[in-house]
Amino acid sequence: MVAYTVEIVVPEDCEVAGADGTVELEVDESEYVLAAARAAGVWLPADCQQGWCTTCAAELLDGEVDQSDAKRYYEADEAADLILPCTARPRSDLRIRVCQHDAMLDHRAAHDLPPGRSKR
Ligand code: FES
Repeated sequence: MVAYTVEIVVPEDCEVAGADGTVELEVDESEYVLAAARAAGVWLPADCQQGWCTTCAAELLDGEVDQSDAKRYYEADEAADLILPCTARPRSDLRIRVCQHDAMLDHRAAHDLPPGRSKR
């Protein structure tokens, strides 16, 4: 079993119970980042937890994730360094900036990808 160090950066305008600024945790390669964070008491935002709704979106600042379990994730998301931590498994040590739902919605709308402009 391989575990990676995941550094979670919480922006100032976002409230995450259990995290103040930056937190670091170990996440097994088979675990989703969101579930591991919540198990460690860091209550990251989420809704569907299936890689569909984009509520949990985060910016990948450093590292690599396996996003293959997400129900809706696009190459354009990956190219923009946007990930869905609810269905992201670490493939290296990571640094992520959470609370990027708005950025993800803007990005998806700009690329004509679901949910499109209806949410903007
Ligand atoms: S919680 Fe819905 S996509 Fe992650």
